[in-house]
Amino acid sequence: MDSDVKEKYLLAGKIGKKALDYAQTLIEPGTLFYDVAERTEQFIKDNGAMPSFPVNLSINNEAAHYTPYEGDKKKFKTGDLVKVDLGAMVDGYMSDNAASMEVGNTGNYSDLIEATREALNSAIKILRPLINIYRIGEEIENVITSYGFNPIKNLGGHGINRYDLHSEIFIPNYDDGNDETIKTEKVIAIEPFASNGIGMIHNGQFGNIYIIDAPKVKDKNEIIYKNFNTIPFAERWLAKLIPDDQAYIKKKLSERLISGFPVLKEHNKSMIAQSEHTIMVLNDEIIVTTK
Ligand code: CO
Repeated sequence: MDSDVKEKYLLAGKIGKKALDYAQTLIEPGTLFYDVAERTEQFIKDNGAMPSFPVNLSINNEAAHYTPYEGDKKKFKTGDLVKVDLGAMVDGYMSDNAASMEVGNTGNYSDLIEATREALNSAIKILRPLINIYRIGEEIENVITSYGFNPIKNLGGHGINRYDLHSEIFIPNYDDGNDETIKTEKVIAIEPFASNGIGMIHNGQFGNIYIIDAPKVKDKNEIIYKNFNTIPFAERWLAKLIPDDQAYIKKKLSERLISGFPVLKEHNKSMIAQSEHTIMVLNDEIIVTTK
């Protein structure tokens, strides 16, 4: 990998990790989701990067893809199991990392959280160039089931390319039999999710996050493309740029220029934890950029 590119990935990882730690210090009973997301995204900018995507603050049976909307009054409650998922981007080179915590340190789901941390660490330990993809999933599954929980089967890790957060490969959280290999000189994210429920998520309501369909961009000055390129963006980001962002989003959705991300969730009584790192798989070394 080009040394300049490598440096940018490393810096994006370092800032992403710092932002993840920072976000968790802000989360207390009564804090607004809105404030945590906005302050954390500002923190990423203050450190010289841009968010790779809107800060995701998903709770309890939600696995991912909730970010607050402009004017959102939702507050954290004691006992909420929060997944903070975020990333930093330097010149299009991104990091993506996530951690789970309980609001007010209730300690009801420490095992569930620990299962995802250990699964992530075990998966990183066996990682090497040309490893079969199913082996990573198998490792994650073994650790999570040893804790008595289920891995979420229809969520997983992914390749990362410049300005492209979810590229090519899918890294499962269970042995899916995929014997393709992880190529060298690749950047990937591994993200085990564990559930005390069934281990399958479905689409819920929309989570205020959208993405542009890159091949459909004709006007490079279109406001979404001009400001956010092809990375996922938040309704709140657009609200700060134009007066009636809701109407604009509706119009662009109907033109199919953009699409929305639904919140990914399990049934009401299940709880979900997640851990995630970004990793460079190089010829001669494995580097966790978000450590
Ligand atoms: Co990810």
